[in-house]
Amino acid sequence: MNTSQHPVNWTEFQSMNRQRRAIRDFDGAQISDDDIAAILAEAVLAPSSGNLQPYQLHWISDAKTKEKIATACNGQKAAKTASTLIVVAANPTFGLTTASEQRAYIDGSESLEQRSKDYYHKQLSMFERLLKVGALSVWTPLVSIAAFFRPSLSLLPVGHLGSRHWAARNAVFAAQTLMLAATAKGIDSCPMEGFSASTIARQLDLPRGTVIPLVIALGYRTAEARVEAQWRRSQDDLVIQH
Ligand SMILES: Cc1cc2nc3c(=O)[nH]c(=O)nc-3n(C[C@H](O)[C@H](O)[C@H](O)COP(=O)(O)O)c2cc1C
Repeated sequence: MNTSQHPVNWTEFQSMNRQRRAIRDFDGAQISDDDIAAILAEAVLAPSSGNLQPYQLHWISDAKTKEKIATACNGQKAAKTASTLIVVAANPTFGLTTASEQRAYIDGSESLEQRSKDYYHKQLSMFERLLKVGALSVWTPLVSIAAFFRPSLSLLPVGHLGSRHWAARNAVFAAQTLMLAATAKGIDSCPMEGFSASTIARQLDLPRGTVIPLVIALGYRTAEARVEAQWRRSQDDLVIQH
């Protein structure tokens, strides 16, 4: 173990991880703005490819907007009864904006060594090329054919589909961090992908090319909320040791 790090309490992590369940029936009690801001601050620390954070977390605090978005979540009970909704929005162009901000941060940093600055500059230039030229839709059919023969190419941020998938993939780390942070605050959540993305994108005036991998319902579970035993594939099946 790296002795410079404090060990985190394993039992508490385990109980938090097991307490996080997809809850679909909330009691309507409000969550304080401070608590939401605190869990969002943890979500912001999620890892991302090249630290490019190609996503936004839309905190839907306005009651009328919340109602409209809940309706766009196919009227799901989790969304309707949630105290707050978080819309996870991803877009490769958000990654490009981050790249400029990150470059300014690196250039202005007095604590980063030149070696680190060179490393980050190189990495940023590579990502900027990929996201500017590589994200063009002209690459999409070419990558699609190449990926037929080489499946690993399916995950490249190349072509308009690949780059949006890349952005969405990055966003879900923030989503999971947010849900675990909520659990640590005693707040329940439900991740949802059952919604009309185009309706939500219009309601929130999201820029063109934005995809929504997830809407997260947040609230406190009712006493009647259905929480069944947590079934998963067996570890032997899921984990392959080499
Ligand atoms: C990407 C994703 C999409 C999901 N979409 C929905 C959804 O639209 N509605 C819903 O009620 N639950 C949704 N869920 C919750 C899953 O059904 C739930 O996580 C799964 O059954 C495991 O249960 P647990 O989270 O309580 O362990 C979604 C979960 C994920 C990760």
